[in-house]
Amino acid sequence: MAIDKLLTPLTVGKTQLANRIWMAPLTRSRAAQPGNVPAQLNATYYTQRASAGLIVTEASQISQQGQGYAWTPGIYTDEQEAGWKQVVEQVHAAGGKISLQLWHVGRISHHLHQVDGGAPVAPSAIKAQNSNSFVVLPDGTPANQPTDTPRALALEELPGIVADYVASAQRAIRAGFDFVEVHGANGYLLNQFLDTGANQRTDAYGGSLENRARLLLEVVDAIAAQIGADRVGVRLSPQGVFGDMRVEGSGETALYVAKALGQRGIAYLHIAEPDWAGGVALTQAYRQQLRSAFGGALVFCGGYDAERAEALLASGVADAVAFGRPFIANPDLVARYAKSAALNTPDGSTFYGGAEVGYTDYPFLAD
Ligand code: FNR
Repeated sequence: MAIDKLLTPLTVGKTQLANRIWMAPLTRSRAAQPGNVPAQLNATYYTQRASAGLIVTEASQISQQGQGYAWTPGIYTDEQEAGWKQVVEQVHAAGGKISLQLWHVGRISHHLHQVDGGAPVAPSAIKAQNSNSFVVLPDGTPANQPTDTPRALALEELPGIVADYVASAQRAIRAGFDFVEVHGANGYLLNQFLDTGANQRTDAYGGSLENRARLLLEVVDAIAAQIGADRVGVRLSPQGVFGDMRVEGSGETALYVAKALGQRGIAYLHIAEPDWAGGVALTQAYRQQLRSAFGGALVFCGGYDAERAEALLASGVADAVAFGRPFIANPDLVARYAKSAALNTPDGSTFYGGAEVGYTDYPFLAD
């Protein structure tokens, strides 16, 4: 089938993207150790996928406190910044554009990841049910462990969290990234603040919709003040349940945030649809409400193929569609979609951790 709309260039902020087929953020847990540093293996993986309209990197922790899984890359040390610079230079040399996803996991963590082995932090001291953190045990064995009960962040600590986001965004821009994407989705810290279950605060950061959205908007404002709103994206996951998030009210919350982000003129809003990890599917009417609320580039992700993505663009609600698992298995996904060629099948057993196998060894069409 023809996918003319997906192959049409798109301007986001001040950046020209060659097409509207984006690579979704995908945690692959292959940063070099010690120090969770992006290395040549990661540069090779991303550069193989540089024909995407925009690559959104795997989520990258903004601090040690913000880490919840072993071997994920960070963006808070000089070594990590230098590692990302190497990635960005190679993606740019291959003609690609790339956004760094900024991550603080909040309560989806474990004391083994925390500074001094303390409790992870969250809006309130409420443990995420049925949620795991991936750790390396003291004897060296990697293992999924139930997340710890977090401690509630003190009001005085919140400016420090905002400052960590800003410092990481500045590092990202120094490393050459075209955008940063603030991870407000999938049950992590900023999503925990938005959520009526995880957030039971009685101060200015809890309770009303306005209060629950405050931290996310402060983070966005502080980053935009330093790097420009036209280089900022945000990811949200209305109706997502991953990380023990509540469905009730989450659609309304995301609409409120979308409107506030639109007023700030950020570059793009990236919606992770719930169907990949549970939750009630979004309706087209709801996507249209997001479209009306937010004037910048609007991107949806989750369970799309070329045909459904082209139809979504044709319906007028989206400017681009992001693809996750298809990009894991198909470095040349854009060419394959353009030619209606067969796709490689992703191997779930190599999604997280390991090295080249299941990472940089998926064949290109010409192979
Ligand atoms: C993800 N997803 C994800 N989302 C995110 O915002 N940051 C991340 O780091 C990750 N990591 C991640 C790893 C793996 C292995 C998978 C499969 C998924 C969610 C991802 O971006 C996307 O929303 C889903 O994969 C649904 O899209 P597809 O795969 O159906 O196109």
